[in-house]
Amino acid sequence: MKYTVALKSTTKPEWVSAVKADFNAFLQNHADCERKASGMAQNFIAKYPDRLEILDELMAISIEELEHFRQVYKFMELRGVYLPQKMEKDAYINTLIQNSRTGRDERFMDRILMAGIIEARGSERFITIGEALEDEVLSKYYIQLGRAEAKHIHSFIKMCSYYFEDDVIYKRLEELLILEAKIIDSLPFEAKLY
Ligand SMILES: [Fe+2]
Ligand SMILES: [Fe+2]
Repeated sequence: MKYTVALKSTTKPEWVSAVKADFNAFLQNHADCERKASGMAQNFIAKYPDRLEILDELMAISIEELEHFRQVYKFMELRGVYLPQKMEKDAYINTLIQNSRTGRDERFMDRILMAGIIEARGSERFITIGEALEDEVLSKYYIQLGRAEAKHIHSFIKMCSYYFEDDVIYKRLEELLILEAKIIDSLPFEAKLY
C-alpha cells in the first residue's frame, strides 16, 4: 500500500517572498533542519530499539538527511555563508510535538506520523521555493530535494503500519493534519523552512 499525506494548507506566496528576500538566512535554517532531521531519526532508534522492523529504514533516513545537510552546506560555502553558532528551536516542530499523546504506543504513533507530516511540509516548501528561484542550479536542487523528502513521507507512515491498523493510522493522521495546518498558518512569514 502506498501511504500518502495530503497537507491541509498550501504555502502562501508571502513565504516565498520572505525566503527570497534573505536567501542566505534560509540556507542556514535549511541546513539546521537537515541535521535535526538526521538526529530525529536517530532519536527514534534510541527510544525504540526494540522495534526491529523500522531500524534499518530509520538508519537509512538518518544517513540521507545527513547527506542533505552536507549538500546544502556546499551551497552555503560557495556563498560564504556560515553555520549559525546556535541551532534555533523551531516553533513549528515544538508546537506539533507538544500535541503528542502520552502512553508508549500513542506517543510512538504520534511522533512517527508527525515525522511524516514534517517531511510532507518540507517537501512542499522545497518544491515551492525551487519553482520560484531564478538561479537554475539552486532551482533544480530544491525541486529534486523536495522529491527526495517526499519519499520519506511514505517511509514514516509505513513504519506506523507495522504496529497499527490503517483505519487507526488514518484517523489520527487526519487530526494531526488539521493541527499542522493551524500551526503553519499561525507562524509569521520568515526566511526559514517553517
Ligand atoms: Fe532532508
Ligand atoms: Fe526527509
